[in-house]
Amino acid sequence: MPDSSSLSILKHQLENYSRIDLVGNSTPLERLNRLSDYVGRDIYIKRDDVTPLAMGGNKLRKLEFLVAAAIEEGADTLITAGAIQSNHVRQTAAVAAKLGLKCLAVLENPIGTDEHNYLTNGNRLLLDLFNTEVVMCDSLYDPMAQMEEQATLLEAQGFRPYIIPVGGSNALGALGYVQCAIEIAEQSSAGFVDFSAVVVASGSAGTHAGLAVALRELMPSTRLIGVTVSRKAEDQRPKVETLSNELMQLLELEGETPEIELWDEYFAPRYGEPNQEGLAAIKLLAEKEAMLLDPVYTGKTMAGLLDGLERQRFPGDGPILFVHTGGAPALFAYAK
Ligand SMILES: Cc1ncc(COP(=O)(O)O)c(C=O)c1O
Repeated sequence: MPDSSSLSILKHQLENYSRIDLVGNSTPLERLNRLSDYVGRDIYIKRDDVTPLAMGGNKLRKLEFLVAAAIEEGADTLITAGAIQSNHVRQTAAVAAKLGLKCLAVLENPIGTDEHNYLTNGNRLLLDLFNTEVVMCDSLYDPMAQMEEQATLLEAQGFRPYIIPVGGSNALGALGYVQCAIEIAEQSSAGFVDFSAVVVASGSAGTHAGLAVALRELMPSTRLIGVTVSRKAEDQRPKVETLSNELMQLLELEGETPEIELWDEYFAPRYGEPNQEGLAAIKLLAEKEAMLLDPVYTGKTMAGLLDGLERQRFPGDGPILFVHTGGAPALFAYAK
């Protein structure tokens, strides 16, 4: 059960930062009854796929802090970058539309596909509905420099742009997942559920870092496992650790960097390209729970959770929490 002084310290620290309310009340945390029966273990889910705006997802939590900073700086335009089917870009564009801001997105095609649905459907279709200005590039080899280039062009036209990093993953954005960890701690305490492990996708790393820093304070005996969706553990670890350290500074927390556990066997062949195990996990969750996962992030992460159960990679026999970070709009982009 969460330590109440850590809880009040974290809540107090979050209050130091401006924030726009995009997520509202806590997202639901529920038991997956039929899946639990099927796998023979208690599996719970944190429903960050149903954050309220424009088909939901994890980025709205980060954008609460990032967009508040943009507005404080007097910005009238949000610039961000990602894959054509980026959920992050879609959620940033949605927030811009809701707040009456312009949004420019620098997009790449990371799998070099010419599939019609990938190029036009899913998240990409929604960008057009939100009036997003799209700039295509061959590759996001240096996203910050590429976004700065666009910012300079927009400034010359009289706009006041604010750059939101890829995935919303800087320390300010990661505060959103400190809030999520607070909710998890409060909900698990209220429901008397003591999780052995929490499983989450680890991509641009803000979600993982926010949970790692805050869950260590709030639920120190629960293991946090990041399932990588874009790179091997040796490349992902420094990203999560650096961001965790920056976040600890922002929260004025002392001590060692939290231990970062990564499982990197589930994202092959590469970021953005589905695999059989991920697709099977999507099908299983749909048929057992009517729960929609996606082929790029949460399907692969759930495949990791299922394989981890099979191979007894989890400690003890207590309940496991899967953090559902969203992404279902991409199902329509990958339909062949
Ligand atoms: C659906 C979904 N899940 C997980 C992630 C990974 O989150 P992060 O980039 O914070 O590691 C993303 C990132 O875009 C996402 O869209």
